[in-house]
Amino acid sequence: MKKRDFTRRKFITTVSVGSVAAVAAGPAFPIIGKTSGNAQKLAVLGGEPVRTKEWLDWPLAGVNEHVINEVMNTVKSGKWVRYSSDRVKTFEKEWAKIIGRKEAICVNSGTSALNTAVEALGIGAGDEVITSPYSDIGTIMAITVSRALPVMADLDPESYQLDPEDVERRITSNTKAIIPVHIMGVSCDMKRILEIAQKHNLKVIEDACQAHLAEFNGKRLGTLGDLGCFSFQGSKAVACGEGGSIVGDDPELMHNAWAYEEKGYARHIKAPNNAIRIGPKYRMHEFEGAILMGQIPGMEERFEKRNANADYLTSKLSEIPGFVPQKKYPGTGKSTYWRYAVSYNKEHFNGADLDTVSGAIRAEGVPFSPYIRNGFHKQGPWYEYMLNMKEYRNTYSKATLKRYRDEFSYPNCDRVCNEVLAIYGMGVLLGSREDMDDIVNAVRKVYENRDQLKSV
Ligand SMILES: Cc1ncc(COP(=O)(O)O)c(C=O)c1O
Repeated sequence: MKKRDFTRRKFITTVSVGSVAAVAAGPAFPIIGKTSGNAQKLAVLGGEPVRTKEWLDWPLAGVNEHVINEVMNTVKSGKWVRYSSDRVKTFEKEWAKIIGRKEAICVNSGTSALNTAVEALGIGAGDEVITSPYSDIGTIMAITVSRALPVMADLDPESYQLDPEDVERRITSNTKAIIPVHIMGVSCDMKRILEIAQKHNLKVIEDACQAHLAEFNGKRLGTLGDLGCFSFQGSKAVACGEGGSIVGDDPELMHNAWAYEEKGYARHIKAPNNAIRIGPKYRMHEFEGAILMGQIPGMEERFEKRNANADYLTSKLSEIPGFVPQKKYPGTGKSTYWRYAVSYNKEHFNGADLDTVSGAIRAEGVPFSPYIRNGFHKQGPWYEYMLNMKEYRNTYSKATLKRYRDEFSYPNCDRVCNEVLAIYGMGVLLGSREDMDDIVNAVRKVYENRDQLKSV
């Protein structure tokens, strides 16, 4: 709230100064470098767009000779399976070092990594796990695959992260873990979440699937909970098509994780008595390991560049009324910005809705779009399917399942779904300062000419 007031006041000052000049010199926010003919007519209405150039494309922007050589060498070696070569094994060692954990185990997706973490902690039927309604649905599926109950807590509407106080309210005697999701690659309020977990003796699995290299209190995300999980799916900051990893320090948990994702085979017990539990096959293959190895050179530099550009955008977009960048908690360090996100407030745009404004900005050549349109509580009948499964009906008491339905209300999540605009940051934030100015100018132009939105 404070932030909005500040922004509005700052804007009034800016506009007051600007409006004197505007009489003589045009708009309060001059459009840098775009002054011709109909530059002030919104592109969505046929005006000249702020930008026509393409944006950097990710993951292509990360493909270099390292990636190509790694893949070609793997193809030519004929050793395509984890046990026949060393690409996955070597990447696991490097990734653990980069993140700051004793060990990393690679699997075939972020969803598999999260499910492996749930199983490694011994969580299953009869247990409740608290997580966010605002994520990729893989977060929820990772819990349901083990027949645990995914209990969702509401969000902080300004950070889009789990609200720790609502998490605490939803803890019951069946709750075993919290899965905080570092949405957009920016940290949750990990201080409060860890305090609550400690107070109630709960495990923490960090869903860092969007949060490669991001930091909180000087540590990388994925190192603060009992286990951390990453996705290396094609859109992510570290990408190999489909892939994921579990990171941790406790050898017993990591043994459990290994055995689960390896069809039940323990790695610390000699064959033939090593089939110690049941589990799927989530193993990563050598091509994925090779692509990931090829992405290590330049990974930190890309992270730094995206941070510098995101900081610049934050400083400039905060000046535009109705655009409030994602809130960060004290302790949040550099972030991944898988998506660079803002809350849009239509009051400042003559009441134009999210789709109209984002459509107008996109017509200017800048890819701001709504992100998740519905929380999981409004994404179809998956939970009816789950609650009707015999495993759930036979395991959970009627009272637990009734409470589950009764508490299916997430007003802050609904608000976030209706307010957030985001740019997919992985390629865009690798651009130049001029590219960032195009983003700012497009938003400024739409703001300046918000009266025209009535005609869209
Ligand atoms: C926050 C979050 N959690 C989990 C997942 C699932 O990862 P994957 O798609 O690799 O299974 C994703 C993927 O987008 C994600 O963004």
